[in-house]
Amino acid sequence: MTTNEMWGGRFARGPAAIMEAINASIDFDRRLYAQDIAASKVHARMLANRGIISQADADAIARGLDAIKTEIDQGKFTFSRALEDIHMNVEARLKELIGDAAGRLHTARSRNDQVATDFRLWVRDSIDAMEAGLAAFQRALVKKAGAHAATVMPGFTHLQTAQPITFGHHLLAYVEMAARDRARFQAARRTTNENPLGSAALAGTSFPLDREATSRELGFASAMRNSLDGVSSRDFALEYLSACAIMATHLSRLAEEVVLWSSPAFGFVRLSDAFSTGSSIMPQKRNPDAAELVRAKCARVTGALVTLLGVMKGLPLAYAKDMQEDKEAVFDATDSAALALAAMTGMVEDMQPNEIAMRRAAGEAFSTATDMADWLVRVLKKPFREAHHITGRIVAMAEARKCGLADLSLGELQSVEPGITADIQSVLSLDASVASRTSFGGTAPDRVREQVRYWQEQLK
Ligand code: ARG
Repeated sequence: MTTNEMWGGRFARGPAAIMEAINASIDFDRRLYAQDIAASKVHARMLANRGIISQADADAIARGLDAIKTEIDQGKFTFSRALEDIHMNVEARLKELIGDAAGRLHTARSRNDQVATDFRLWVRDSIDAMEAGLAAFQRALVKKAGAHAATVMPGFTHLQTAQPITFGHHLLAYVEMAARDRARFQAARRTTNENPLGSAALAGTSFPLDREATSRELGFASAMRNSLDGVSSRDFALEYLSACAIMATHLSRLAEEVVLWSSPAFGFVRLSDAFSTGSSIMPQKRNPDAAELVRAKCARVTGALVTLLGVMKGLPLAYAKDMQEDKEAVFDATDSAALALAAMTGMVEDMQPNEIAMRRAAGEAFSTATDMADWLVRVLKKPFREAHHITGRIVAMAEARKCGLADLSLGELQSVEPGITADIQSVLSLDASVASRTSFGGTAPDRVREQVRYWQEQLK
């Protein structure tokens, strides 16, 4: 076996097959090719501007890199595991295309600052894509919420019917979560958008680099101030993965609700054929597979975060090869999270609530008992604890009679609390109940419409 043409000068033989298998990252880090080439062009131009390499060499390097970009774009590039990673695959091809000038590209640079730079650029692009996806998700939710600001459904705690709410209100809860998810991605972007290029292997370099220029040209906010930190920090990726994991957790909760809601036992929403699958044995089945897979993808994204935390926690400064494993975690989490986000957006747009089934369920299980207790407090001036107790006895009576609270006669109600008047009926209907919850952030249709307008404005 021949020695590595990039670093094999002091080696007598090439790596064992198993060494190549564990060492090579080209099968996954080829996804960094556009970032790698863009950063190399900026580096070469800066080297020429500083007189470190000739302008002619820099021009040849730029032309060669453009040609390689086209080859990879068009699927015509042959990737080689023997060349380990994307950086050496590109440089080896550059040598084939432009000859010895290719060897000047790596002046004042190491793969350590190169990969950190490429990866930050890649994560930055993913953050921007995730943010755009979240905005589309929010728009879909707000649109549905606007159409269902007054559609009554049961609100649950402990998955037990608690109080009537509106479907629009429920959907807007996810808009709020998505807004915080976006803020987390924006924060991760600030951490990510710093330039490690010029850190070289770990100590910086003796060449007179212009790190301001490379930062500016690559769109970084600034050059990283410490070369050891530049090559060895991956907290930007951890922050990005945390944002992905928290977002995926939110998507998974909504997915779980879609699974419940679309079950015939609930019958709250219907997913169209576009988002349902059939069973190979039970002809009647409509399964919410996409929602179920969103739940599972969430586990993968969380797993990626835990993986990278585990990789990083024991590493002394500066670079160690362990860090090569950052990429598969980030790539898999990105693919899973982006797919989950798009699928959830599609399901929100697609799902049709069954207003009759939701209203029927909302009316079950004495869901307006709190309204009754509140009436006792407001009209009879009872302390809330006593009102709670009185209402509890009335609920027990209705349960024994197998009827709803509104079905009890005034005489029956007065047998528990003589002060009750017929006026109490006015608070026991579902519509009266939701309409009364006018506190800021509450479920009253007017409040929901107000929030829909707020988000329409924000998302313009
Ligand atoms: N493929 C490597 C990675 O992803 C590039 C950096 C390699 N540096 C080194 N000194 N071996 O981390």
